[in-house]
Amino acid sequence: MGAQWGDEGKGKIVDILTEHYDVVARACGGANAGHTIVVGGKKHVFHLLPSGSLHDHVQVFLGAGMVIHLSTLLRELQTLHDAGIDLLPRLVISSAAHIVFDFHQAIDAKEEEQKAKAGGAIGTTKRGIGPAYRDKAGRTGLRMETLLLPVEELKSAVRSRCQLAAQTFGVTVDKEKEIQQLLAAKTALESCVSVNTLWTLDRIDAGKRVIIEGAQATLLDLDHGTYPYVTSSFTTIAGALQGLALPPQVLSSCIGVAKAYCTRVGGGTFLTEAEEAAAHRLRERGGEYGSTTGRPRRCGWLHLPDLQFAARLNRITHWNITKLDVLDEEAVLPVGTAETNGKAEYEEHAGWQTSTVGVTRFEDLPANAQTYLLAIEKKTGVPVSLIGTGPGREQMVVR
Ligand code: IMP
Repeated sequence: MGAQWGDEGKGKIVDILTEHYDVVARACGGANAGHTIVVGGKKHVFHLLPSGSLHDHVQVFLGAGMVIHLSTLLRELQTLHDAGIDLLPRLVISSAAHIVFDFHQAIDAKEEEQKAKAGGAIGTTKRGIGPAYRDKAGRTGLRMETLLLPVEELKSAVRSRCQLAAQTFGVTVDKEKEIQQLLAAKTALESCVSVNTLWTLDRIDAGKRVIIEGAQATLLDLDHGTYPYVTSSFTTIAGALQGLALPPQVLSSCIGVAKAYCTRVGGGTFLTEAEEAAAHRLRERGGEYGSTTGRPRRCGWLHLPDLQFAARLNRITHWNITKLDVLDEEAVLPVGTAETNGKAEYEEHAGWQTSTVGVTRFEDLPANAQTYLLAIEKKTGVPVSLIGTGPGREQMVVR
């Protein structure tokens, strides 16, 4: 689970761990997520398929809590196909996951524009996430089960849905294009759609090991995040369980992923946001540009109350602190320790000003880096077990 505002680097640890699992699942969210996967030596950004999908022994499950933009999913599958990987026989999609239409994206863009004029844009990814979840809650959405309908019924369902969207939201809807996209998805994906609500639980009860990749992150949770500057799904462990129809007792551990500093995309509070010179250093060193939208991320310092909150809310059992090496050149590291009157209180840690890139043993980290990490452990009561020291799979301290 992400412990901050997303982009903590969950993909890398999920990819590494998936080797030891039978199923990799996504529970919530949609193509607002983004992670880079290297296929055939080329980098691709995937939005819907979980990291770890490339391990060819693993089944890939997209849960009921997700909202799925079908042509994005087909594109991701095509990219894999072109690289010689046929994911379809290993892909299972819940029939209860909702479909994101192009008109949802148009509504998202229109609403953002209106909010921006009024001075309060959320800064969404414009992937139609909020409008799709609104349809789900309003019971007007179409779900993946639509792909199981006979062709004429499918066309008619999409046509009426489009009509309603155009009337209610005043956006232009290209009905025929939406229908064609669903028909293409029906042809490609019908055999992947499962009507078994308890698909994941069945796997667990059969002795299979399941890893869940959290999407977005704790502080973006619709209920418990920094509302209204949040996403429209439930991004905590509870949301993941709900999205996959799992009872909490099945959990064996919960890895919280947090950057060694902090970033945020879009609007909303960010108490430890750095002044521009420091933000610029972190952004450039950390490559902090949105993988879905390309937007420069807001950058700042670690805020321990957020990690304490995420640790308690998700019952995090281990930390994966990522991108430690991005701090290598900093002389002083401010760390937010509390909030008073809407402002962060800081303690200052001495930087280490030496490279940690590629370090794999905790003892080999500079003393100041060890102190910095141990402060996280002490303040949250959760062991720092995994520490990212570079983008490569092997650039990781396992403690
Ligand atoms: P939406 O999920 O596109 O509606 O965007 C709502 C808020 O969540 C915006 O501030 C987005 O930048 C943020 N957000 C959504 N998905 C991600 C993500 O995967 N990483 C970081 N921020 C995200």
